[in-house]
Amino acid sequence: MEWEIVAETRFSCHLVLLTSEAAKERPFGLPLEERHGKKEELTSFLFERGGDIERWIVAGLGPQDQVRSEHLRRACGEAGRTALKDGREEVAVHVLGPSLSPETIAQSIVEGLVLGTYVFDRYKSKKHEYRLKRVDVVVPEGDRSPYRAGIERGVAHAAGTCLARDLANEPSNRLRPDTLADHVQRHFAGTPVSVEVYGGADLERMRLRGLQAVGKGSLYSPRMIEMRYQAAPEKPLIALIGKGMTFDSGGISLKTQRDISDMRMDMAGAAAVIGALDVIARLGLPVNVIGLVPAAENMPGGHSMLPGEIIEYANGTTVQVANTDAEGRLILADALILAGQRGAQTAVDIATLTGACAAALGGKVAGVFGDDRLTHVLKEIGDEVGDRVWPLPLVDDYETMLKSEYADVKNISEGPYGGAITAALFLRRFVPEGVRWAHIDMAGPMDTSSTKGYWVAGATGFGVRLLARFVEEWPGS
Ligand code: BES
Ligand code: ZN
Ligand code: ZN
Repeated sequence: MEWEIVAETRFSCHLVLLTSEAAKERPFGLPLEERHGKKEELTSFLFERGGDIERWIVAGLGPQDQVRSEHLRRACGEAGRTALKDGREEVAVHVLGPSLSPETIAQSIVEGLVLGTYVFDRYKSKKHEYRLKRVDVVVPEGDRSPYRAGIERGVAHAAGTCLARDLANEPSNRLRPDTLADHVQRHFAGTPVSVEVYGGADLERMRLRGLQAVGKGSLYSPRMIEMRYQAAPEKPLIALIGKGMTFDSGGISLKTQRDISDMRMDMAGAAAVIGALDVIARLGLPVNVIGLVPAAENMPGGHSMLPGEIIEYANGTTVQVANTDAEGRLILADALILAGQRGAQTAVDIATLTGACAAALGGKVAGVFGDDRLTHVLKEIGDEVGDRVWPLPLVDDYETMLKSEYADVKNISEGPYGGAITAALFLRRFVPEGVRWAHIDMAGPMDTSSTKGYWVAGATGFGVRLLARFVEEWPGS
């Protein structure tokens, strides 16, 4: 997609994003009323101007004093898809009314249009006919540099999010631990992100015991993928950790639902971390960050991890595997220990960890646990970028639910309740001394069944923009 900032456009398809107040003013002489500016209102019509018949797509943003960047992203997503349905690949965007900075406006336009018109049609024999090719961002005369900066940021954030969507949407016969690692290596070749992949004997040497145990039932052996971006080595190191289960069948504790195709996305946390590093590198942010992705395929078989077996972790903790379907926490534990060994001061993990978290918060919001300041900052940033998170408590009293008869801890809890919390409590045991930690459970928002706003049915790319912004803004980074 090509972006241009212009005062006048030569394109004949106009996307007008406007507040209720701006709609009343009937901009461009369009036949509009206040209601056209209502939030989520979308109107598309042909209109004659200066002898030409043009397509006008008008999307409401709501009252001026309530407009947030999220409204703009959503409206752009809807308007962009409407333009494509009309076969328009070149569009002009006009934003009228909201009191947001030029940079925020430009960034939101780009994110909304790119993410809202995203398609994953690699495996469709009939490809989507149209895609947005050229966008004119129409702005008043004056300083264009904030718009330019906003577009650059939007392009980076959208590209990282599309990368995460592509990875999560990819079926598990194509995306395995080894091919995911290859993909990451190829993707970051020639960028400031260096990639190290550990497998086979490395895992033994590094004592990544959870990863070995979870991965041993699969034909495709596990990997630990380490990405490094050190543009400011003097700054405290942040570790981003993403669960990379390329398929979660449950293992010996096999899942029994009718359709478990979605478990190809059990690496959506990994995708979020990879996407965030992509954004950070594109923008050349002055930060110090590593991404850790433990990648495995959870399969039943003659060599599988068995219920009842015990894993002895590098930090001395022993874990009774009570249920092989609670595998995510087992591999994240290794990554948390490794983050400490790498010298991280702050660690944020993101994972499609529990159905319980999805049950609690639904499909739009992830749960966040851990350090108060971290969870608070993540919530604030999430509200701004649209990757919403909600703080859930680490209830010490529930530790007893993880008690094991013959190991230090079990990987599932007694009883049906509080599953998202007990999973987080399990992870807390592996957070190295002195590391400030937060855990994001994104089982709910990993995918969406309906296309709306800038979310398109399929993987959402949740977490990319949240983590990228977090690394950028976290004090000390
Ligand atoms: N990957 C799943 C969690 C999940 C469920 C993610 C639905 C996205 C959508 C995880 O590995 C899992 O199987 N969790 C179990 C844990 C249980 C065995 C304690 C769950 O949530 O049922
Ligand atoms: Zn599982
Ligand atoms: Zn899983």
